[in-house]
Amino acid sequence: MNIAVFASHGGSDLQAIIDGCKDGKIDACVAGVISNNGESMALQRANDAGIPNYHMSAKKYGSEETLAKEILSVLDKYSINMIFLAGYMRMLHISILEKYNNRIFNIHPALLPKFGGKGMYGIKVHTAVIAAKEKETGITIHRVNAEYDSGEIVAQTKVSVYENDTPETLAARVLEREHEFLVEVISDIVCGKIPIG
Ligand code: GRF
Repeated sequence: MNIAVFASHGGSDLQAIIDGCKDGKIDACVAGVISNNGESMALQRANDAGIPNYHMSAKKYGSEETLAKEILSVLDKYSINMIFLAGYMRMLHISILEKYNNRIFNIHPALLPKFGGKGMYGIKVHTAVIAAKEKETGITIHRVNAEYDSGEIVAQTKVSVYENDTPETLAARVLEREHEFLVEVISDIVCGKIPIG
């Protein structure tokens, strides 16, 4: 299976997926990486791993429609079967959602449906979890549809929240767990335990 990973920032989740494929824990390969952010470490990490990588943004191509066409042609070029959004900060165009229906997944650093939706990303999620005095938070992997964080949930795991946690300490604990959980869940998708298509 050929996976495309979309990422906007640090790309540590991308790295976990690349390593999982390399170590044989995921029977697939990351065939391409796309970022809306030319400065994203994700592009650098892909480069270091010899994976084709593309900076693609609406700004660069002039419109969301042209961007979507260009993205679709890259996905075609590498015969992509599945898309994984690993910290990708843009909504995908409807033409991509339709073509890869059920084959696009996102990782969210909380137990959806709590602490999700537009504007709920990064440290804001963990700040809200602490403010709500939650005893546990977690990670959700879900299919992607046209609304933020609302597609079918395919896997969740819990992470404890400690009394002395700050948003930063909590974010670090969740992210560390994400790196293991991603590999487990993508492996389940690749081997058909979580169906696609
Ligand atoms: C993670 O917290 C993930 O849950 C969210 O974006 C972050 C990605 O971090 N969707 P990184 O860019 O992979 O380091």
